[in-house]
Amino acid sequence: MNLANYKATLSFGNGAPNIEMPVYHGTIGPDVIDIRKLYGQSGMFTYDPGFLSTAACESAITYIDGDKGELLYRGYPIEQLATDCNFMETCYLLLNGNLPNATEKHEFSHLVTQHTMVNEQMHFFLRGFRRDAHPMAVMTGLVGALSAFYHDSTDINNPEHRAISAIRLIAKMPTLVAMAYKYSIGQPHLYPRNDLSYAGNFLRMMFGNPCEDYVVNPVLERALDRIFILHADHEQNASTSTVRLCGSSGTNPFAAIAAGVACLWGPAHGGANEACLNMLGQLQAAGGLAKVGEFMEQVKDKNSGVKLMGFGHRVYKNYDPRAKLMQETCNEVLSELGLENDPLFKLAKAVEKIALEDDYFVQRKLYPNVDFYSGIVQRAIGVPVNMFTGIFALARTVGWIAQLNEMIADPEYKIGRPRQLFTGAVRRDVPPIAKR
Ligand code: SDX
Repeated sequence: MNLANYKATLSFGNGAPNIEMPVYHGTIGPDVIDIRKLYGQSGMFTYDPGFLSTAACESAITYIDGDKGELLYRGYPIEQLATDCNFMETCYLLLNGNLPNATEKHEFSHLVTQHTMVNEQMHFFLRGFRRDAHPMAVMTGLVGALSAFYHDSTDINNPEHRAISAIRLIAKMPTLVAMAYKYSIGQPHLYPRNDLSYAGNFLRMMFGNPCEDYVVNPVLERALDRIFILHADHEQNASTSTVRLCGSSGTNPFAAIAAGVACLWGPAHGGANEACLNMLGQLQAAGGLAKVGEFMEQVKDKNSGVKLMGFGHRVYKNYDPRAKLMQETCNEVLSELGLENDPLFKLAKAVEKIALEDDYFVQRKLYPNVDFYSGIVQRAIGVPVNMFTGIFALARTVGWIAQLNEMIADPEYKIGRPRQLFTGAVRRDVPPIAKR
C-alpha cells in the first residue's frame, strides 16, 4: 500500500487536540485511514460492528467493485476465468498470483490428484455421526479432524507446511464432501480416481456406485467446474475473515479452514443457497407463480421476518456478476438434462423479474447474488439441497487458504483482538446469597 499525499484529521467537540492520521491507497478501491495509533493518541476506539467501514487487512487476492458489479481474482475478471479457465488454473492463480502456463497447470493438477485420498481412519470418525446429521456438521468435524493426521505439516509459520496443507485441503475436500453425502444415504463411499478431472472425480464420488461404471457427463462436469470457480474467493467475507482471525492465533491450517466451514454454514452467508431453494420450494408448494405477488409483499413487510434468500449483498449494490454466470450455467444444464421447463427455474426467474422492477428492492439495491441460481443448477445436477453449502465450502477452500497464507506471510501480522464499547454493569460487590 502507498502513503497518500494527504492526511485525515480527527477533531473532537470536547476540546481534545485534533489527531492527524495517515491515509493509504491501494491499486484500486477506496483509500484507508490508518487508525492503528488512534487509541494510543486519544484513548478512544472506533466503533464499527459488522465492519461496514473497516478494512481489516491489506490483500492482493480478490477485488470487488460493488457499484459496477465487478469481481477480479488477482486482476482477472470472473467472467473471463469462468469462460476461459478451469478450477485448477483458478486455484493456482489464487494461491500463486498468476495463471499457470501449460506445464505449471499440468504439474499442479497432477499434485492435487495425488492427494485426493484421505486416511482410512477418517471413515471411523464419520461413523460417529447420525446418518441424518446435516452435512455441514459432518464437514466441520471432518475438516477439523484432518489436523489429527498431518503432524508433519501443521506449523502455519512454515511455508513448506502451508504449501502441502493447501494441496491436501484442496484435494481432499471433494472426497470428504462425497463421503458425507454417501454416508447420509447409506451407500458405500467411492475412492477418487486419478484418471478423472477434479470436477469429474467429484461427480463420480457423489453419484457413482461400486456396482457399475460411472460415465461423467461433460456438460455437468464443466458446469460444476464453473460453480467451483465462481465460489472460489470473495474478499473479506464472513467465513474468510473467520479463517484469518482463527489463523492469526497460529493454529494449524486445517483448524482454521474448519472454522471457515462452520461460519459459511450460516443462512446469511453460504447457507443461503440451501435457504433459497427451500424458499422457492415452499413458494412452489403454496401455489407457485400465482402466489409470487403475495410472497413479495410478505418480504417487504419488515414484521414478517421473511427475507428473499439469494438476494442482497453487503458489497454488491449492483448485479452480482456470479449470479449472471450462474444463470447461464443453469440454462446450459437444464437444457442438457431436458429440464428447460423446470418449474423452480421459471419461478426463480419470475421472482427475479418482479424484484428487479419493485421499488423496495431497487431502492435498497437488492439484486440476485451467487446463491440465487446456484441451488437450482445443483439440484438439477442431482445434488440434494442440504449438500449445497458443502459444495460452496469445497470451492471456497482455495480462497480461504490463499487469504490465510497471505496473512501469515505478512511480517506485520498480529493476532486479531478487537476491542468493544462496554455498556454492562460497573464494578459491584457480590452480595451474600440471602441478600440476592
Ligand atoms: C454470500 O460477503 C460475501 O461476499 C458473501 C458471499 C461470498 O461469496 O462469500 O458473497 C456469499 O453470503 C452471499 C449472500 C447470501 N445471503 C443471502 O442471500 C441471504 C439474504 N440476504 C440478506 O440476508 C442480506 O442481503 C445480506 C446478509 C446478504 C447483506 O446484508 P447487509 O449488507 O447487512 O444489508 P442489510 O441487512 O442492512 O439490508 C439493507 C436493507 C434492509 O432494509 P432497511 O433496514 O434498509 O429497510 O435491505 C433489506 C434489509 O431489511 N434486505 C433485504 C434482503 N437483504 C437486505 N430484504 C429482503 N430480502 C433480502 N434478502
